[in-house]
Amino acid sequence: MTSSRDFFHSRLGFVLAAAGSAIGLGNIWGFPTQAANNGGGAFLFVYLIVTLLFALPALYAEIYLGNQAQSNPVRALKEACKDSVPNLGKYMGIIGLCGTVMMLSFYTIVAGWMLANALSPLAALLNFSDLSVWLSTSSTTRNLIFTPIFSLLGAAIIHQGINSGIEKWSSRLMPVLLVMLLGLIVYILQQPGAIEGLKVYLIPDFSQVMEPTLIVSAMGQAFFSLSVGVGGMMVYGSYMKKDHDIGKLVLSIASLDMFIAFMAGLLIIPALFVAQHAGFEVFNEGKLIGEGQLIFNILPQLFSSMGSIGLFVSFAFFSLLSIAALTSTISSIEVPVSYLVEEKSKSRNSATWLVSLVVLSASLLIIAFFDTLFGLVIQVLTTILQPLSCLFYFIVVGWLWKRGNKLVATNQQNHSKWLALWGNYLRYCCPILLTIVFINVAILN
Ligand code: ALA
Repeated sequence: MTSSRDFFHSRLGFVLAAAGSAIGLGNIWGFPTQAANNGGGAFLFVYLIVTLLFALPALYAEIYLGNQAQSNPVRALKEACKDSVPNLGKYMGIIGLCGTVMMLSFYTIVAGWMLANALSPLAALLNFSDLSVWLSTSSTTRNLIFTPIFSLLGAAIIHQGINSGIEKWSSRLMPVLLVMLLGLIVYILQQPGAIEGLKVYLIPDFSQVMEPTLIVSAMGQAFFSLSVGVGGMMVYGSYMKKDHDIGKLVLSIASLDMFIAFMAGLLIIPALFVAQHAGFEVFNEGKLIGEGQLIFNILPQLFSSMGSIGLFVSFAFFSLLSIAALTSTISSIEVPVSYLVEEKSKSRNSATWLVSLVVLSASLLIIAFFDTLFGLVIQVLTTILQPLSCLFYFIVVGWLWKRGNKLVATNQQNHSKWLALWGNYLRYCCPILLTIVFINVAILN
């Protein structure tokens, strides 16, 4: 089985694909929204700490498990637990598969909104005003058209394989994303009011740093943003030849992810203050007026107040979000696809379409019962499933694998004291700290 697997052809290709998986709507929409609502710089500060303490070690554990196993996440976890609790490993792998379907079910809906909003200024430029308004207005019909379109885009990349599909497209799209983001930041920072936003974002209000809700939000954001706990990073790790230097790769991925989140804050929080300066109501008692309205209401109002240049800014902004969403979507589709190809002997083509069909059905269910299901699915995934899976990865790497701490043993063989220390951090500190946070979340709820 292993010999017929496709691989990433370069370490850079792997880093760009994994960073593409991590960098998504969570960075460009989620992070700035949370920062705007949780004391600006205070949120940034706590987010950096929880990323370093938990999310980065979880990313390491997940990629390490996949890289060692060189197989899909279900088999990887089953193999890693084979001397102790093989079925538990297998079932946790299957729960991860369900997690990816959950994630894709709402993510493709939201990504469809971004795509429709990116096309809206183009329609306006071509004088299709009614179409432009329809594209930028939320409706069930729009969901029913754009969710499948986005799923098809993801499937079209995935069915081309790891190197020709995921690696090539991530290497093309990630630089475009960065250039667009930088261009937008430069433009927004020149607008009146932007500097006030910059101060709020960059100067932390330390009185808010110990707020439990802020810590929990930062934690959910960190896990979601690094795409850990649903197997996407594990499957990407498995498509890289066995590598002893996972640490450097993980650091590069996490740094890119944090950098883009930080840059998105540099764009969005000043943009909010530009909007406020232009007379739009943005905050009420320090909180954003409706979190969802940030992207689909406040910023579009700001763009349209800029005249015709606003159409280009709006196109660039929503294209940026669509690209970010696409590179995250493909990593999640790859998880069940790799399982079907390797464990159920499906061809890549039929596995891709089968997974897309299942995801689309789940999305349609959410569209049909939107008010009940949309928020619930996101909450269950980000506050329960992802952190629980990460806790499991820590326990596997630290305790269950070969009836002991495989990571510490490997690193001791390699005579690296630092890596042995790192292995012990994953073994003892991460599960304990994460459990403490869980208990706090339960108390808060
Ligand atoms: N990690 C992806 C994001 O931030 C899912 O949107």
